[in-house]
Amino acid sequence: MKIEAIHIRNYKVFQNVRLVHLPKMCVFVGANGSGKSTLFDVFGFLRDSLTHNVRQALARRGGFKEVISRGETGPITFEIKFREGKGPLVTYFVAIGLKDGIPIVEKELLKYRRGQTGKPWHFLDFSEGRGLAITNESDYGSPDAEMKRDEQELDSPDILAIKGLGQFQRFRMVSAFRRLIEQWHVSDFHISDARPSQDSGHAEHLSSRGDNLALVTQYIWENYPDVFQSILDKMSQRVPGIQRVEAIETEDGRIVLKFQDGSFKDPFLARYVSDGTIKMFAYLVLLYDPNPHPLLCIEEPENQLYPSLLDELVEEFRGYAVTGGQVFISTHSPDFLNSVELKELFWLVKKEGFTQIHRAEELTLIHHLLEEGDSLGGLWKQGLFDGVHPV
Ligand SMILES: Nc1ncnc2c1ncn2[C@@H]1O[C@H](COP(=O)(O)OP(=O)(O)OP(=O)(O)O)[C@@H](O)[C@H]1O
Ligand SMILES: [Mg+2]
Repeated sequence: MKIEAIHIRNYKVFQNVRLVHLPKMCVFVGANGSGKSTLFDVFGFLRDSLTHNVRQALARRGGFKEVISRGETGPITFEIKFREGKGPLVTYFVAIGLKDGIPIVEKELLKYRRGQTGKPWHFLDFSEGRGLAITNESDYGSPDAEMKRDEQELDSPDILAIKGLGQFQRFRMVSAFRRLIEQWHVSDFHISDARPSQDSGHAEHLSSRGDNLALVTQYIWENYPDVFQSILDKMSQRVPGIQRVEAIETEDGRIVLKFQDGSFKDPFLARYVSDGTIKMFAYLVLLYDPNPHPLLCIEEPENQLYPSLLDELVEEFRGYAVTGGQVFISTHSPDFLNSVELKELFWLVKKEGFTQIHRAEELTLIHHLLEEGDSLGGLWKQGLFDGVHPV
């Protein structure tokens, strides 16, 4: 699954932003408050809308009036174009507005084209809780197939049809899109949360803040010994001295992480190892996940890591993007950018209250300067990306 394009209207600082031709790994730079976290939160918003409904997704963010771009009346719209493998380009569109002061789904569409030239099939086309939905997706692709569409009604106009219509469980494209949204993950790792021991339990994926690191370590160690060994091998290459990491259950039923330094007999508790050691270990646990997330967003991965490690970290992220899911990263680090490719880099500029997102690749000058030996991080620091620095 790959997101090819995103068009956002009236969502907070993004009054009208369009991203196209997205690569599998995208890196975003921009001043504080330019909207990097807001961009990732588009997926959080869609997940909350899918798990609950749009009213609750808005309420969690302060309500419609807080979320809608200041000065606008609406609707808030998201258009996401994605592709499964070599399948057709699928467009999902949703518009959220207010009716009598209550948030509703004004419009929801899912469509894709039959072949290169055919007309797009509208698999669903809903407004305010009512609409048409196709009932014969399995015929899609057969040249003579005619669409069969049924009028349907949802329980409430603030529910997404991709959730509310039971029949869509069977639709490949809807299932793929739901998986993308439901299993999307943001990593905003906090070392202080990852250090303490945890009550024993079960966790298969690292949480956003990393506070279940010991449990996920135990899970991978018990169920995927080969993956665990790869993590340890990488760890000892990158953090001098580290030979082994264990998740151990204490007598009072807690799980502690212990790091073994080759120079000493007894292992250290996670509480006493360095910040960078924990962080590198947590990233490896996140990136070597046996069941990767379809979309992984990572906030400022550079913090606490030794600059020369960032080059390898970028490689790890890129590897995940190839074999796992798509990766979006925000960064403030020139060292990190030095390992990023031009086509992967985007920059955010906030002007008169709203943000635009530009592609580094579109600057003609930059191709020339990189050829002459300049580095991407260096050029960013020098202010080559117009408007990127705070004034
Ligand atoms: N309804 C709205 N309309 C316009 N702008 C908004 C709205 N709600 C929030 N904002 C603005 O959006 C920005 C939020 O930015 P965000 O937290 O995404 O930035 P960031 O790039 O992640 O910054 P940092 O580097 O500090 O983490 C703030 O500048 C805030 O004022
Ligand atoms: Mg942020």
